[in-house]
Amino acid sequence: MLPNPMPRFLALPHRRQLLAAAAGALALGTIARRPVELGDADEDAEATPLDLAGFLTRGNALASRLVGDRSAVGQDRYLHALAGLAVRLAGVPVPAMKEQATPGYSLGFHEGGAPFTMLHWKLAPGAAIREHPHLYGNVVTLVLEGDVRIRNYELVGERDYEARGTFRVRRTCEAFLRPGGTNLVSLERNYVHGFLAGPSGARGLDITTRIRERRETPTLEIAAKPVDEAQALYEASWKSGG
Ligand SMILES: [Fe+2]
Repeated sequence: MLPNPMPRFLALPHRRQLLAAAAGALALGTIARRPVELGDADEDAEATPLDLAGFLTRGNALASRLVGDRSAVGQDRYLHALAGLAVRLAGVPVPAMKEQATPGYSLGFHEGGAPFTMLHWKLAPGAAIREHPHLYGNVVTLVLEGDVRIRNYELVGERDYEARGTFRVRRTCEAFLRPGGTNLVSLERNYVHGFLAGPSGARGLDITTRIRERRETPTLEIAAKPVDEAQALYEASWKSGG
């Protein structure tokens, strides 16, 4: 069946009303005078590459303006806006890296971020960062090199980070990221994540913004098999001290 060429709500009488309203608005100058909203993520007309200094100049201003809204929607907006700039990064230098306790995982740091911190991570082939919740800082992850699988989870029902025994979690995202790929972790959405590097390893950035008091972060142990595959539900438990 061919689609209706004109939605019913735009049938002729209504179109006339809309056209008349638009003409009236133009006559009053209300449309012409309204500033164009370019959006928060990127006010440049073209997605030209940004070096680290260019990103920090724009990113710090953008983040400072948006970080105050810590609601779920506010964090989504903040993270998407920051990610919109981060995907333009090119030629990010590799800072001094320090090996971490997790095998195959090293971490560096880029100065100059505010209110966020720019961490530069590297994972050896097959190295993993176990699933952990973000309790005080949200994150934009950007892959710069290699590939990595990232899984995100959320707790089902009441969020209790001290719960003993098992509870249910839902896998909310499974991404296989290549350079330029992003993964967003807010404190309200996709707030548990874990990494597994591909056969060539991976390197990237975690642009993290602390918006609550720092506290100890447990590790989430997740059953290999789902209890409900269609709903992506798993049994899980906390392991303190990660
Ligand atoms: Fe994390």
